[in-house]
Amino acid sequence: MALLPDTPTRFLTGITTSGTPHLGNYVGSVRHSVRFSRRDDVQSFYFLADYHALIKVDEPARIQRSTLEIAATWLACGLDPERVTFYRQSDIPEIPELTWFLTCVTGKGLLNRAHAYKAQVDKNAARGEDPDADVNAGLFMYPVLMGADILMFNAHKVPVGRDQVQHIEMARDMAQHFNHLYGEHFTLPEAEIDDAVATLPGLDGRKMSKSYDNTIPLFTPRAQLQKLINGIVTDSRAPGEPKETEGSALFQIFQAFADDEETESLRQAYADGIGWGDAKQLLFERIDREVAPMRAHYDALLNDPAQIERILRTGAEKARALSRPFMEGLRQAVGLRNLASRDPAVARKAAKVARPSFKQYRDSDGLFYFKLLDASGVQLVQSRGFASPQEAGRAIGSLRQQRADALAQLAAQLEPLDDEGMRAASAALEALAAADAASEG
Ligand code: TRP
Repeated sequence: MALLPDTPTRFLTGITTSGTPHLGNYVGSVRHSVRFSRRDDVQSFYFLADYHALIKVDEPARIQRSTLEIAATWLACGLDPERVTFYRQSDIPEIPELTWFLTCVTGKGLLNRAHAYKAQVDKNAARGEDPDADVNAGLFMYPVLMGADILMFNAHKVPVGRDQVQHIEMARDMAQHFNHLYGEHFTLPEAEIDDAVATLPGLDGRKMSKSYDNTIPLFTPRAQLQKLINGIVTDSRAPGEPKETEGSALFQIFQAFADDEETESLRQAYADGIGWGDAKQLLFERIDREVAPMRAHYDALLNDPAQIERILRTGAEKARALSRPFMEGLRQAVGLRNLASRDPAVARKAAKVARPSFKQYRDSDGLFYFKLLDASGVQLVQSRGFASPQEAGRAIGSLRQQRADALAQLAAQLEPLDDEGMRAASAALEALAAADAASEG
């Protein structure tokens, strides 16, 4: 049984709290997902993946700072915590618990093939080092923790970059395997890749990324923003010489913020030989126009971390209202149970064995017969032959419904019963009726 079967499509997004949000994160993910969260036909989950951050960051202050900055970024960009479920991963203790359940249904071989882990192993091999050098078990388990994030809230769609698609597929595998073993508990998630969302070049022209140290922080102060933009690589063409838009990091970043008309006018300016200094000034002004109002909000939020803490705790309560009962159901399913409770499947089976039953059969004379057996299979009633199975069935029907009365009425169609036999047969019919009533109720 899936959680919330009739709700709108559920989207879920997490960001690892290991750095400061930059323009690339904004253009590639935050801007789009905030817009998306305003739609009425979706229910969305946004969280700060701080357990994931521990895999690569061992500086506590940086984790705390990054969590604050990313939370403030989402809020400053317009995420409405009333509308969505906005929480911090480490506030949901059911997530590590589910991680363990999933760990136990995930093949080690599947995890061996995960890109992030494999990339590190390949790098070690290329350097002639031990394959597992610098690989902590957290990196190896990364996809399982991510699977727990997604499956906990039965997300239908997970918006991700292409590099994360494999992780969503792994989450599907885990869900399928668990469902196969324990019943339909999980929705199978799908990756939602938005190719229209640009990957932004960084200061040096390569993809803007923390790992290349080429980022422009989204909410860096105005003066710093201008300085960083002035450092974007360009070629050495002088003012007055026509410039190429193709391959120009400056142009691509501009395009990610500007509308078509603005983009066309910069294209024209390139052709007309705009100087790099002037082009950078245009880019700075364009970005600042979009970012400045949010920056003010961001700065205010950073100055009031207690408010963000409150928002996250409220979000965690909202999330746990789902995760607690869901996890409880999973605990039952796998057998982590109150010892005094009976396994529903075993109880059903036991009830079946323990109840009296009718057996219908056709004998060698071509006639149709039935017997009534008690719970342990001892014969209580033997019918005479009926011309058709329907007639035998009708007799059984009245025995089931009218019990002792029917035994008397049908006496001519049954082998004779003494008083003791009559009592045993009526008791069995009563027991059968009671068992039927109980299993229907
Ligand atoms: N792996 C994502 C990243 O690198 C963060 C993340 C953790 C995530 N769990 C998730 C994303 C679940 C989507 C769904 O930022």
